[in-house]
Amino acid sequence: MGSLETVSLRLQSALSLTQDFVDLTQSFLYAMWNGLLLLTALAASTSVLPGQNGIPMVAGQYLLGLGVGDVTGPIVETNLMGYASLEQNGRGLHMRQRSRAYIVADGSAPNNRIVFINAGLYNDQNIAFVGTHSHAGVGGYLENLLPQITSLGYVKQTADAIVDGTVLAVQRAHASIAPGRLSVGSTNIVDGNINRSPIAYLANPAEERARYQYDTDKELTLLRFDDDNGNARGFLSFFPVHGTSLYINNTLVSTDNKGMAAFLYENSVEPDSMPGNATFVAGFAQANVGDTTPNTLGAFCHSPGKAWHGQPCDPLRATCGDTVTDCQGRGPGFQISDFESNRIIGELQFRGAQRIMESQGRVPVHGAVRSAHAYMAMDKHRFTLPNGTTVSTCSAALGFSFAGGTTDGPGAFDFTQGTNSSQPRNVFWDIVKGAVTPTPSAEQIRCHHPKPILLNSGAAHVPYDWTANTVSVQILRAGNFVMLIMPGELSTMAGRRIREALRNTLISSGILGSDANVVVAGPANTYAHYVTTREEYQIQRYEGASTVFGPFTLEAYIDKYSSMVPFLADNASGTPPSDAAPPEQTSKAISLQTGVVFDAAPIGKKFGDVLQNVNSTPYRAGDKVAAQFVGANPRNNLRLEGTFLTVDRLVAGQWRTVRSDSHPSTIFEWVRTNTVLGFSTVTISWTIETGTPAGTYRLSYFGNSKPLIGSISSFSGVSGSFTIV
Ligand SMILES: *[C@@H]1O[C@H](CO)[C@@H](O)[C@H](O)[C@H]1NC(C)=O
Ligand SMILES: *[C@@H]1O[C@H](CO)[C@@H](O)[C@H](O)[C@H]1NC(C)=O
Ligand SMILES: *[C@@H]1O[C@H](CO)[C@@H](O)[C@H](O)[C@H]1NC(C)=O
Ligand SMILES: *[C@@H]1O[C@H](CO)[C@@H](O)[C@H](O)[C@H]1NC(C)=O
Ligand SMILES: *[C@@H]1O[C@H](CO)[C@@H](O)[C@H](O)[C@H]1NC(C)=O
Repeated sequence: MGSLETVSLRLQSALSLTQDFVDLTQSFLYAMWNGLLLLTALAASTSVLPGQNGIPMVAGQYLLGLGVGDVTGPIVETNLMGYASLEQNGRGLHMRQRSRAYIVADGSAPNNRIVFINAGLYNDQNIAFVGTHSHAGVGGYLENLLPQITSLGYVKQTADAIVDGTVLAVQRAHASIAPGRLSVGSTNIVDGNINRSPIAYLANPAEERARYQYDTDKELTLLRFDDDNGNARGFLSFFPVHGTSLYINNTLVSTDNKGMAAFLYENSVEPDSMPGNATFVAGFAQANVGDTTPNTLGAFCHSPGKAWHGQPCDPLRATCGDTVTDCQGRGPGFQISDFESNRIIGELQFRGAQRIMESQGRVPVHGAVRSAHAYMAMDKHRFTLPNGTTVSTCSAALGFSFAGGTTDGPGAFDFTQGTNSSQPRNVFWDIVKGAVTPTPSAEQIRCHHPKPILLNSGAAHVPYDWTANTVSVQILRAGNFVMLIMPGELSTMAGRRIREALRNTLISSGILGSDANVVVAGPANTYAHYVTTREEYQIQRYEGASTVFGPFTLEAYIDKYSSMVPFLADNASGTPPSDAAPPEQTSKAISLQTGVVFDAAPIGKKFGDVLQNVNSTPYRAGDKVAAQFVGANPRNNLRLEGTFLTVDRLVAGQWRTVRSDSHPSTIFEWVRTNTVLGFSTVTISWTIETGTPAGTYRLSYFGNSKPLIGSISSFSGVSGSFTIV
């Protein structure tokens, strides 16, 4: 049975809602199955909200629902998604990944609704072969082959966790639907990002650049969700910054800076709730993220002993003495660690969102809820430019600079960025790419010019499709707030162009007035790599090399999205013309990851026994307290919606949980110490936050072990108690 059918069956039993809602959610998941980050869809049926049609609604009211679900896949022995580094396999947990679902229904026509899912699969998504989108999330869930290479193929346990957690988030959002209001505001976060390919940005026309103060967008736009009494229930925000605060050498599963921002916000509203269990939902989505980096101090050479050690990298090719591997962007906390940089970039977004939430300057959102979706075959899509010339996109291909990586995560094979065909090539790649992707035709080479083709991926279908040639295009409208749901990562200027073009079209067609607010969200629905402007494409930095459908990719999207605008009108009916849906891939998926063989405890010990205890001397804020236990493989049970550890505090003779494995102050690490005998250890640590009350505490471990014969069973262990003074 194909995975889609499995998902469908699971949804039907899980949701026990109307068939329409099942279809709706299934369409999200279909999209997700195609490798999505932001998952969206619309239901337009009459029975979706039984019992809620009778609620008397007044003008400006919407029906709103918000929910969160845990989507953390296997945290050990699985490749992390984004940097495409074979060595970057999980060995523990920093923070859990979550999906956050938002439902907006028209108060006067509740069957018109949109669902926006901001999934904690950061940045990741774009998982590229030797790419640079880092992330610290669990990999293997994307459907196409190229992003699966480092995770040894498709990892069903990861995909299942994403589907189950996302269904749960949508169910929770659906169950919470109640009348309320929306308002929108924005603020600038000047220190939250910089451009990692400023030389490409400079290729844009001077008069266009003169309209903007910065070479990245600094604006965070926020859609606030209120209940009927004006109390905030949560928000959805949009700000462009890559999830590459945590470096390529990080091996703890985490959420990077967006998930940190969500944690900081939700925890500030409900400090006593465990992460993921707050009722307030804080969503931090990506905008035109393509050329942004959170490593705001710039890129420097880490080449001890070399003359250029500590110097900025070469600005065009991101090299240090002709190699990319030593060039690394530095975040604001670099003197401490990448985790500190991650916290700072997360906190900047949290504070920005808080300014808007507390501001009187937000304006109410008003108007109908609509959406439009289509599939678009980007393989040789012909269309007419505004100047009347007919042009075409190309079948997907990645250029040489793609393999160079970026200053957020250098490529492993020593390609450099800004590479034109005249420059020397990596011989290994010339051999490998011939073996793995078909040689491009003369027409394909011409179509992508000046991009020298490294991987002719759109033509590679063996054993299954390497990259998508058909993408999902979608627009969601919540009144005068319009979200362009994009299947790739748009560069700063590409995002500005499409937002401006669509806003103008929405206004000139009479659908929205001058208070129209248009944001870009992506990568969503399909992972279709990058989208730069045609001018940036000429420079062939990483982002240009990863603009897979050729120089006219952005113009093609602007043309298609503009053509969908009439379907957003209040009285619109029908759906936009669509190409065929992309072929399903998952049933053909190869998975080389092996399962857990077995776990055992050394003679005289049992699972959960303490091997190294906490100190008996008192701890203070800032100290790290740790204990080591006889462990078992955490892949035996992902403990979704639960935790592998707790920090407990003794209050009036009772142990009360005060931290979980998703607090950034706790770390869970697992080590297989003897493969033959099945032994392993777990180390739990907690860095005590300033303000932690004095008292008696302990660390607890929750695990599941797999015997050689028989079924998996649960166990727990506790450290000795310790005091904080
Ligand atoms: C990761 O690399 C950075 C420098 O690039 C270094 O400062 C840091 O200590 C490394 N982290 C680990 C966990 O090795
Ligand atoms: C989550 O919150 C609910 C109440 O809102 C509570 O009953 C439940 O125990 C909490 N779960 C955890 C894991 O803290
Ligand atoms: C229209 O614009 C394209 C892209 O800049 C250019 O190649 C073409 O020559 C232009 N056509 C006309 C008629 O100006
Ligand atoms: C690559 O070629 C384009 C046009 O062919 C040129 O404008 C650009 O400067 C070249 N880049 C490099 C790094 O040589
Ligand atoms: C929708 O309404 C506009 C004016 O409000 C009208 O011009 C247009 O013809 C209507 N379209 C449909 C499909 O009814």
